[in-house]
Amino acid sequence: MQLDELTPAVVAAHLTTARLGRECLVLPETDSTSTALRRDFRDRPDGFALLAERQTAGRGRLGRTFVSSAGDGLYFSFLLRPVLPLTALELLTFTAAVAVCEAVERLCGLHPTIKWVNDVFLGPRKLCGILVESAVSAPTGYPDFVIVGIGVNLHFDRTAHPELSDVVAALSDAVETPPTRAVLAASILNAFEPRCDALCAGQTAELLAAYRSRLNCLGRPVTVHTPAAVYEAFCEDLTEQGGLLVRTADGERRTLRAGEISIRL
Ligand code: BTN
Repeated sequence: MQLDELTPAVVAAHLTTARLGRECLVLPETDSTSTALRRDFRDRPDGFALLAERQTAGRGRLGRTFVSSAGDGLYFSFLLRPVLPLTALELLTFTAAVAVCEAVERLCGLHPTIKWVNDVFLGPRKLCGILVESAVSAPTGYPDFVIVGIGVNLHFDRTAHPELSDVVAALSDAVETPPTRAVLAASILNAFEPRCDALCAGQTAELLAAYRSRLNCLGRPVTVHTPAAVYEAFCEDLTEQGGLLVRTADGERRTLRAGEISIRL
């Protein structure tokens, strides 16, 4: 097995960024890199990254748990201070999903897909979860800060978690030698930074095209879950604003901006 040393120096050796990951800390254990970043490191500069060998309380969207065993995955969060209107914040989730796909494509030759809004899939199973959280207090129209949390499964112990066996994918399912965590983290940050800069410069078309081309729900029947309702629909397209356009059974078109879908195969 290759050496998988996770240190700021090894991450830095693979970075091509100007800011992201240039200041970086690796913890042997924390509750959640996103929680710890907000609690203990929120005053660090734009691009600060916090990585952990393991998380004891890894979090996902909608209050879910993210299983984060030592050595099995890459768990990290990074801090952004983007000059980005609050209405465009959801596009940072798109940016993260595309950056993970691009890194996995480049390093492993695989073709992950995106399950709207923020999950990266390998085949029919989830490879990576993304949690984007923001703090808004100043009346500037911009967030005070944003924390992007990313968890990627490099290995997955199916005997330890048989209940997740059918829903979780790992890079080691598909390639003999997955990249090290440091190389994967650097590669994701390298892909994220230019896309984030373009977004802050008001350029969204290329990001939306990259996101749309990897969506695994287009042209398929889906079940839509929103806080208000659960209903069947057909997934038609991604709009120019980044909403998911679905057609309900009675022909009504709706644009989803939040919620969750499950894909009916
Ligand atoms: C989801 O599946 O809904 C999102 C999962 C996000 C997991 C990552 S791991 C690093 C960071 N720390 C957390 O507690 N969550 C994110």
